[in-house]
Amino acid sequence: MTSTTIPVEPFDFVIFGGTGDLAERKLLPALYQRQKAGQFSEPTRIFGASRSELSDDAFREFARKAIAEHVPAADIEDGQVERFLKRVVYVQVDARSGEGFSQLKDAIGDTDRIRAFYLAVAPSLFGDIASNLEKARLVTPASRIIVEKPIGRDLASARELNDAIGRVFDEQQIFRIDHYLGKETVQNLMVLRFANALYEPLWNSAHIDHVQITVAESVGLEGRVSYYDKAGALRDMVQNHMLQLLCLVAMEAPAALDADAVRDEKLKVLRALKRVNGSDSSKLTVRGQYKAGASAGGAVKSYADELGQESGTETFVAIKAEIENWRWAGVPFYLRTGKRLAERVSEIVIEFKPIPHSIFEESAGNIVANQLVIRLQPDEGVKQFIMIKDPGPGGMRLRNVALDMSFAQAFDVRNPDAYERLIMDVVRGNQTLFMRRDEVEAAWRWIDPILEAWDENQQGVQGYTSGTWGPSGSIALIERDGRTWHESI
Ligand code: BG6
Repeated sequence: MTSTTIPVEPFDFVIFGGTGDLAERKLLPALYQRQKAGQFSEPTRIFGASRSELSDDAFREFARKAIAEHVPAADIEDGQVERFLKRVVYVQVDARSGEGFSQLKDAIGDTDRIRAFYLAVAPSLFGDIASNLEKARLVTPASRIIVEKPIGRDLASARELNDAIGRVFDEQQIFRIDHYLGKETVQNLMVLRFANALYEPLWNSAHIDHVQITVAESVGLEGRVSYYDKAGALRDMVQNHMLQLLCLVAMEAPAALDADAVRDEKLKVLRALKRVNGSDSSKLTVRGQYKAGASAGGAVKSYADELGQESGTETFVAIKAEIENWRWAGVPFYLRTGKRLAERVSEIVIEFKPIPHSIFEESAGNIVANQLVIRLQPDEGVKQFIMIKDPGPGGMRLRNVALDMSFAQAFDVRNPDAYERLIMDVVRGNQTLFMRRDEVEAAWRWIDPILEAWDENQQGVQGYTSGTWGPSGSIALIERDGRTWHESI
């Protein structure tokens, strides 16, 4: 099967932080891939903007290197690269003082074309950039602004950031990226639920025992020392990616696949999350920090050694969450995420309730409750575990096997990076996969009390050896309820 590409209107794409890590690793490679796929209409232009003094040619070299290093070799075609570099321009700007914004305006010119300002910079610059764009009269009705997480470090700071951007841009022009929403399998979650009649009747507390969401990484700090140590896993992964996944699993069917219908349903889930009170935090949450150990590449240092000092920041978190509504009352959602874990794997496991009564002899073997496993990465796919009879003579022996749908095997298409889809959605003006202001703030409203409880109860981090599945407290969190973390991971 092949994919189809529908071209988008011509657009001007301005990257603030144009010489930074995100531009290099994700944005320029993603734009290149969309050009190569034939999705651009002409004239489409890309502007790098940052504080460094750089010529157009020097920035083109930066873009060439970004493509060489971050696009798979099989996708690099000299002709395509040259075409891409021709659309790339550089403008030196100072986000704080506003210097360079008038040059940016001259470079872009007076057009009513779609204009996308991508803020790949520290959140402390969001407000300044928005107001400098306004002062330089760069904001047109066809303009959009794209911001990356972290959007705040708590509810109050998120509100400030949202206010600062909202003074210049309407909510319909603001695209808050959560790149997990651009992942292929995350989108498939909606299709699985709402394009099949099979699951939806079972998708509730009468038939589902519990849900597990795991986002495990094998990498450590990756040089993001100053950001990560101030954030920690709860802010870095749970407030955004994990809660978005939880929403997609738990939300009611939206009336249509339009941005507000989907986001209204996600918001209801966030609002229904049971607040973690101070006294419950040690029962419902686990914080961990990696110690020295081994990863796939060999021996690795502890978090403190990577950081160069002792720290109380968590690199792992597990939470038992509950959604207080009719559909989900009594169904725990176990979340866990961490760095330097045994493998890089992201999975959602829906475990159905056990059968009410077995007609089989004990000697036939255990009857395992059905599980639906949605694998987000790597090896994207869906597995539905069911009980079958072991084939062959020798009596009735039962076996738990997976109906296994691996997307890579089933479809002969490249799996695009999340940023490719998200950037094209920005150009199309489709906000379905972006977080609305009230969603971000509702997520913080649930996270803030956890942070406060950790503080009040002085709930410290439990050490775990790098290359394992996290601290023993995480195993205890789920086993206390007579359940276990899904094993194929
Ligand atoms: C980012 C986090 O949002 O997501 C990182 O800040 C994390 O800490 C990354 O490594 C994980 O993304 P992915 O797409 O590699 O699963």
